[in-house]
Amino acid sequence: MDRGRTLAALGDCAVCHTAPGGTPNAGGRAMDTPFGTLHTTNLTPDPDTGLGRWSFSAFQRAMREGISRDGHHLYPAFPYTAFAKTSDDDLQALYAYFMSLPPVQAPTPKSSLNFPFGIRPLMAGWNALFHDPAPLQPNPRQSAEWNRGAYLVDGLGHCGACHTPRNALGAEQGGGAYLSGAMVEGWEAPALTGLASKSAVPWNAESLYRYLRNGHSPQHGTAGGPMAEVVRELAQVPDTDIRAMATYLASFNAQTSEAEARAQAQRAVATAAARQGPLLGPAQRLFDGACAACHHDGNGPTLLGANVPLALNSNLTSARPDNLLRTILDGVREPATRDIGFMPAFREALSDAQIAELAGYMRARFAPQEPAWTDLQSEVARVRGDE
Ligand code: HEC
Ligand code: HEC
Ligand code: HEC
Repeated sequence: MDRGRTLAALGDCAVCHTAPGGTPNAGGRAMDTPFGTLHTTNLTPDPDTGLGRWSFSAFQRAMREGISRDGHHLYPAFPYTAFAKTSDDDLQALYAYFMSLPPVQAPTPKSSLNFPFGIRPLMAGWNALFHDPAPLQPNPRQSAEWNRGAYLVDGLGHCGACHTPRNALGAEQGGGAYLSGAMVEGWEAPALTGLASKSAVPWNAESLYRYLRNGHSPQHGTAGGPMAEVVRELAQVPDTDIRAMATYLASFNAQTSEAEARAQAQRAVATAAARQGPLLGPAQRLFDGACAACHHDGNGPTLLGANVPLALNSNLTSARPDNLLRTILDGVREPATRDIGFMPAFREALSDAQIAELAGYMRARFAPQEPAWTDLQSEVARVRGDE
């Protein structure tokens, strides 16, 4: 059962298949999709409302082809397009795990889908266009560890479900768009392929490993949004598999040694500290009053948590201010791990104008190499309104 549980954690099954406050895996979570609002199903072995009457081959067909036991097509908000790459052995272990859970009676709430997507048979055409159910072929020119990483990232890990942009019909785009970054639940899931060019310090296998294992990397920042849930689930996945994913992802970038990365981090932090003087003004006072007690670059005490220097935070170097604005508005309430620490929300305490001023100041101070964000006040209003 342990193997099946680990695979379920990698696939985030319980993250989607649990209603807020509900029994794990009993389904009922509402999901907004381009097709309308869908509800996740009950994965416990209840015979009437769950998987109780499902054979292994019915489960296998759902995971590979997106077809339910009674033959109806499932929508790709269920990431079967990625899960299809999973080996039969692993699907067997997953199936055995779900069948071992205590059965819970929980009917799936009705979905409300937009025309024409309410017509499930249309999904057969969608699959013909966008879904490749073939298992992943190992790449013989790469190491066993790299291939293991590719299998986990592209298969059960379904990292592309959030990190790859989708087309108008909700299909992940292929080719160069693969893992090139996308918006999800109002957050930006950054590019995992163009990583090196965007962050203050390029990612390497070690920092990717640390981020996926601990939810933060001392040279990049923390998982505070939807990625926090992913990292919490990954906690059950063995170290060798986390390393394999890091090795695979790192291969998309030019490699930076740890020593070089550390030197770059020190330079970025020193630059930000030196810019405190020239930028003095109301925004600096706002930052000093509201933020600096916890976020300082100097030698003062680390009041709380991981305290990754803001000069290294990916949210500040991004082309979009969304993740920074969301963090200021909502704080860090559910960090991936407790040692990351908590941050209060400033939604009530600061006006749109103040947050816009603060964000503009932070961009200039902590990511001076990047162009200023424009139209910040309406960006703040947009992000504030979209909860
Ligand atoms: C990103 C959210 C998400 C994740 C992660 C996810 N699912 Fe689902 N799943 C869904 C949604 C939504 C549906 C319902 C789709 C529909 O009704 O068309 C679904 C449907 C299913 C079904 C079909 C059930 C039925 O009654 O037809 C199975 C089986 C299933 N999921 C298994 C899994 C397993 C196993 C995992 C983990 C490896 C998993 N899911 C992870 C969202 C998710
Ligand atoms: C549910 C959507 C979702 C899934 C699934 C997901 N991510 Fe993320 N990821 C995000 C978001 C959103 C962020 C931005 C930070 C945050 O949420 O705190 C992120 C951040 C990251 C970062 C840090 C990037 C940076 O530049 O700061 C890495 C690395 C990462 N994810 C890797 C992965 C890997 C590997 C997987 C698959 C095992 C994965 N993600 C699956 C949504 C997701
Ligand atoms: C009570 C302490 C505290 C205060 C006050 C505080 N923060 Fe934070 N902040 C944290 C902690 C803890 C984290 C998570 C650990 C980390 O990233 O160092 C965090 C993380 C962040 C992040 C990174 C989030 C991510 O996903 O990587 C940003 C950006 C940020 N804070 C901005 C601010 C701004 C702007 C203010 C002032 C308006 C502020 N913080 C005030 C404690 C605080």
